[in-house]
Amino acid sequence: MKRYDRITPEGTKDLLFAECASRKRVESSLHSVFEEAGYQQVITPGFEFYDVFSSSEMYFPQEDMYKLMDDKGRVMVARPDSTIPIARLVSTKLKGYPLPLKLYYSQSLFRKNPGLRGRSNELFQMGIELIGDATFQSDIEVLTLGAKALSSVRTSSLRIEIGHVGVFQLLMEHLSADSELKARIHEFISAKNYGALSAKLDRLEDSQTTRILRELPKLFGGKEVFQKAEALFDGYDERLIEMLDYLKRVYEELTAIGLEELVIIDFGLVNQADYYSSLVFKGYLSSVGEPVLSGGRYDGLLKDFGNDLPAIGFGISVDILAADLLRSNGSLEKEEEPNHRLRIALTKGRLEKNAIDLFQQIGFDTEHLKEKGRRLFVTVPGREIDIVFAKAADVITYVEHGVCDLGIVGMDTILESGGTFYEVLNLGFGKCRFVLAAPKETDFFGGYGTKRIATKYPKVARDFFEDKGMDVQVIRIEGSVELAPILNLADGIVDIVETGSTLKENGLVIVEEIRGISARLIVNEASMKLKKNVIDDLITDMERKVQENS
Ligand code: PRP
Repeated sequence: MKRYDRITPEGTKDLLFAECASRKRVESSLHSVFEEAGYQQVITPGFEFYDVFSSSEMYFPQEDMYKLMDDKGRVMVARPDSTIPIARLVSTKLKGYPLPLKLYYSQSLFRKNPGLRGRSNELFQMGIELIGDATFQSDIEVLTLGAKALSSVRTSSLRIEIGHVGVFQLLMEHLSADSELKARIHEFISAKNYGALSAKLDRLEDSQTTRILRELPKLFGGKEVFQKAEALFDGYDERLIEMLDYLKRVYEELTAIGLEELVIIDFGLVNQADYYSSLVFKGYLSSVGEPVLSGGRYDGLLKDFGNDLPAIGFGISVDILAADLLRSNGSLEKEEEPNHRLRIALTKGRLEKNAIDLFQQIGFDTEHLKEKGRRLFVTVPGREIDIVFAKAADVITYVEHGVCDLGIVGMDTILESGGTFYEVLNLGFGKCRFVLAAPKETDFFGGYGTKRIATKYPKVARDFFEDKGMDVQVIRIEGSVELAPILNLADGIVDIVETGSTLKENGLVIVEEIRGISARLIVNEASMKLKKNVIDDLITDMERKVQENS
């Protein structure tokens, strides 16, 4: 039997020497900042009963949690989050303790991430929770503490982004649509998928609600966002205006204490843990491609534990900060403002020619791109833009990790790989369809046996059959998947079809269309915020040409 006694599980790692020193430095800076602000440390158990994390609302998908069993057969989970255990603690042992309670934590979290994506399944987080105080002042205190904490270990320029989840919740109250459509709208706003959002909203009757929803993901940037929001929200439900005024007040207060340069606003910030109730915020560093701080007000969470108290808090990724600190050779100095150079990852092959044509149409000198030979990294002359040529799935990986700001990739790969990024534009080329196909003259849905499906897209295939409530056996094939039914390895295939000739020439017919696909422009979450102007200009130029071409 193979023994796993020399390696660590995927998503975990040993920390050595300089890495430990770097983490310690981050930890001790944050400890000092939190303690000076009057916060007291608590440590919650490394594993807890599953029930703590599955109360009235399911805040974490159960498949993301590590589970184990106690000696009575009860399910327990390795701590996936610190805020929920602290809500439990405050509602039990600390019930009746003088308010407001100011607590901080410094502990590991365990969450399952999709494999081989360079993501850690063990995360070290430090953060604070301010409980029992619903005042405006407490929101400001927590936001400034977050900025101060990050600045104490700052290795590159910092931005704090603020939003209000109540805006989206209220719009959903007013929208007459079923819950499935609402979930899709939520998904498209949080992914800044403007095109798909518009397409969904087009199906509904035009109203001020749909008009606001359409613009919501675009409402981000500096204080000019408030003006746009005011015009858009004018005459709508009073509560929406109150939320807008609240965010404005937060912005003004942060400006008054000298943080104006740091603050950005995003009304489309809806992708936070479900327990947030109003103000939400994130912290970004220009050298890191993902948020390093995440937090918000969660006034309903403690009620789940029978202790109805307002609360606000944030968590900081100590690992990400420590790795960033190490990369910058331990320098605590603030680096220059982020440069505006853009790196675009382009899918090699099928989409390459169309993408380069589009670059040419928006004025890039594309000679070097066309004559690149075996080079994988090409600079666009006269522009602060580099193009990286990569395989489709790698485009997503590079953009997700922030080593590329933008990517051009097919929807097929996005559906199969998933990932966290903004999907901002349907480029209109690379059009094809996902289909279920089977040998001519066979009855795919007939008979009782479990069908075997060959595919290069196991996730897409599994999702498709899961939605149908149908058990199938999915077999992963790397290419020329049409061979599998000929060789009698499979009863059908799930694949992309462009002209249909490969199917035809191999005796297969379409049983069902799954969905249309085309190339998309995707953007790294942090780049979108930190390089907004240059990215916005590029999107606008591309969008104009895409419309002209259609
Ligand atoms: C894709 C797809 C089909 C074919 C469909 O394969 O998997 O096999 O193209 O195109 P058509 O409808 O125009 O005939 P691809 O060319 O990417 O090669 P691979 O299967 O070897 O990966």
